[in-house]
Amino acid sequence: MVVAHRLPVDDSVAPDGACEWRRSPGGLVSALHPILRQSPATWVGWAGQTGPARHVPDLDGVHMHSVPLSTEDIAEHYEGFANATLWPLYHDAVEQPVYHRRWWEAYQRINQRYAEAAADLAEPGATVWVQDYHLQLVPGILRELRPDLTIGFFMHVPFPPPELFMQLPRRAELLRGMLGADLIGFQRAQAAHNFAQLAVKVLGLQASDRRIAIGDRIVRVGAFPVSIDTADMASLAASRGVVDRARQLRADLGEPKHVILSVDRMDYTKGIEQRLKAYSELLDSGQVKVRDTVMVQVAVPSRERVEQYKALRERVEREVGRINGEYGRVGEPAIHYLNQPFDRAELAALYRVADIMAVTPLRDGMNLVAKEYVASRVDDTGALVLSEFAGAAAEFTQAYLCNPHDLDGLKAVLMHATRAAPDDVEERMRAMRAHLRAHDIRAWARAYLTALDRTGVLATRLT
Ligand code: UDP
Ligand code: G6P
Repeated sequence: MVVAHRLPVDDSVAPDGACEWRRSPGGLVSALHPILRQSPATWVGWAGQTGPARHVPDLDGVHMHSVPLSTEDIAEHYEGFANATLWPLYHDAVEQPVYHRRWWEAYQRINQRYAEAAADLAEPGATVWVQDYHLQLVPGILRELRPDLTIGFFMHVPFPPPELFMQLPRRAELLRGMLGADLIGFQRAQAAHNFAQLAVKVLGLQASDRRIAIGDRIVRVGAFPVSIDTADMASLAASRGVVDRARQLRADLGEPKHVILSVDRMDYTKGIEQRLKAYSELLDSGQVKVRDTVMVQVAVPSRERVEQYKALRERVEREVGRINGEYGRVGEPAIHYLNQPFDRAELAALYRVADIMAVTPLRDGMNLVAKEYVASRVDDTGALVLSEFAGAAAEFTQAYLCNPHDLDGLKAVLMHATRAAPDDVEERMRAMRAHLRAHDIRAWARAYLTALDRTGVLATRLT
């Protein structure tokens, strides 16, 4: 059983007013959906609309159990504690985290609700895998309700160093909640180290970076960098439909020499503003010319009721407008800005068109877009410009790495990638693709579930 804040489908209203189900956004769903497909699993999560629980049809053989959330629950738990307190704090506090006592009460209440739903549904002795920062109390509550279960927890986002985490008013409860799990997985070894340090500092426990002793239990901790279905992405990118669509897109863009692409949720952690600033300065200095180079920025709407996200969208749209106003020509905007979600096939076509992919977050747990781009470059072309602060940088050491806080450095790396010799580009891409083939989403699930279930029974079911 997977327990995550969201179900992998989102209950949306179609333009004709009918209800439709579509895949929900973000890396968590992209990662888990392919590994659960066709296994006899249950996914417990929210269906994307407030109000009473809705029946959600099974998806690819996975049973969907929807947890009902009210408007108030969403405002205080999802938009409040999860996305205005924890999210900014866990991403280096690049925006100021907001603390409200009411939000903490909602966080407890909603975590209790998810844990009770899982406890009611889980078969005796089942394995329950709890996901991400929205549900850090669930492992602890679930262990009380159902001591027979094997409980895993995986944090998809960064886990901050003690000096940041210590700001949290309810830090001890959050740590204790996670310690209800048998295995706590993080994206990077540094995050596991931060967690172990906090267990010692805040809870006075005995801990190493791999094991923490709590009562009569040993909780294991480790790094399991998440990935994608590499083969599936590659075969989609090589399909006739995607190749044709990519050709069409390039023609629509005016057959430029260089296409620079970025694909992000509209989130202040993604470094969109810094990237626009760098691009604007390159246009200003004449290093980039609109007739040669086109930038495509996909910024998918995200968390639109949260104040910091609303403000970000306004700033980004003002800046895109300014840049296009200043540097664009009739029929030739400097930046193609798309504030809408795309399906996998359209994204694959965009990845195939992109000579340069700019993935420059200020902080990111992993960044699956970077991995999807690499998997799509089946002919070993394409330059990945990647922030050192994305989890993916630990694996893609051959990317054109940059520090997005350093504007001049970012500009230099963008220019370097644009002008790089084809041999250099190819060698780097080939190495990254080989890494990604060996470290795909199945390898991730196998590594995590083998560690969780020492007997390996679960892991062999996934091979
Ligand atoms: N994505 C999508 N449609 C879009 C843009 C993004 O389906 O229009 C997907 C993308 O393919 C990727 C995920 O959203 O799998 C984003 O994951 P990532 O780890 O890069 O960032 P997150 O949004 O989880 O912070
Ligand atoms: C990140 C988080 C996920 C979240 C996703 C999309 O990947 O780690 O837990 O689902 O972003 O964000 P949203 O707020 O739309 O669920």
